[in-house]
Amino acid sequence: MSSCKTIQLTQFISLKKRPATPTVHLKISKPRHGRAFVHPDYAPLGRLGKGAYGDVIKAIHLKTQVHVAIKRALREATATESSQDDEIAMLKALIHPNIIKCEEVLMPDKDIVLELCRMTLGDYIDSKVDVVPVKRLIQQMCLGVKFIHEMGRAHFDLKPGNILLTSDHVIKIADFGCSRDMVEDVRPLEVKVGTLPYCAPEILLTEGGYSCMVDVWSLALCIYELVIKDRLFAFAMDDMEQLQEIFTIFGTPDTSTWKHSEEYFYPLPSTLQIPQNIQRHDHSFSSLDNDLRDLCLKMLTMNQMDRIEMEDVIRHRFIK
Ligand SMILES: Nc1ncnc2c1ncn2[C@@H]1O[C@H](COP(=O)(O)OP(=O)(O)OP(=O)(O)O)[C@@H](O)[C@H]1O
Ligand SMILES: [Mg+2]
Repeated sequence: MSSCKTIQLTQFISLKKRPATPTVHLKISKPRHGRAFVHPDYAPLGRLGKGAYGDVIKAIHLKTQVHVAIKRALREATATESSQDDEIAMLKALIHPNIIKCEEVLMPDKDIVLELCRMTLGDYIDSKVDVVPVKRLIQQMCLGVKFIHEMGRAHFDLKPGNILLTSDHVIKIADFGCSRDMVEDVRPLEVKVGTLPYCAPEILLTEGGYSCMVDVWSLALCIYELVIKDRLFAFAMDDMEQLQEIFTIFGTPDTSTWKHSEEYFYPLPSTLQIPQNIQRHDHSFSSLDNDLRDLCLKMLTMNQMDRIEMEDVIRHRFIK
């Protein structure tokens, strides 16, 4: 049984409680109820998924008979229009074999027609059957994220539900609803972004003091989940609980862990219960292959300044 102690805090904004894995979007808007899909070129075939921004439906292109996925924003245009535009711009800029392809955008609602995938990485993990060598999937996931970063962008919501697999088991990174052009876009970052169990500590501990390095953290958790077939972090209901889970595995950071970035993180929030009985990562990662364990731990380095970059991830001996 672990004992906890409370330590001092300055300022911290906490997220409200939420269920297991939805994405946090701070733009609040009302749903556009009952907006049926009607388009002369496509016939709807059913719903594929539902996310924070709206529905994704399966459809058939009537002329070519090709099946597609169509992502539709179900909210008032005023609130989500800019993020929908951002997602479209992102998809058009990111042309890569491991990134979902945008076939076209349907006007006037800007519904996004995407290449159809077979399942999410989450579904694949839940099936508990390794049809393809995990290493091949991991390589593709890393190449996709490396490309996003190389193009000066960040995804900001990597999780198994946003990584798709085609029927040929090709990885396609999807859902660019939270993503950002880190070079051209000068707007301040959202205070909170992403999905709680996959959030890097800097998202939980700062108000927008994060970078594309949060993708490296989230990607490592997706890799861990793919290999172990279980989430590393699963039970937290809010930011504080999530930090406790992180500190339980990786140890509570001190000023030496946060060197060069102490100003962001110290003192830690007073509502944080610091775990005393540290489980440490050795136990959680012991069943991983040595090279993969080394890579995952480099990707899960708590201080973003010391975390491995994607460029070096793809050069790591496990990936090469
Ligand atoms: N191209 C596709 N092919 C097949 N299924 C898809 C495709 N795109 C999305 N989906 C399904 O729809 C779900 C939601 O899509 P997406 O993640 O893009 O939407 P979202 O509203 O941004 O989701 P969230 O905010 O919950 O992450 C996916 O998890 C997946 O199940
Ligand atoms: Mg999603």
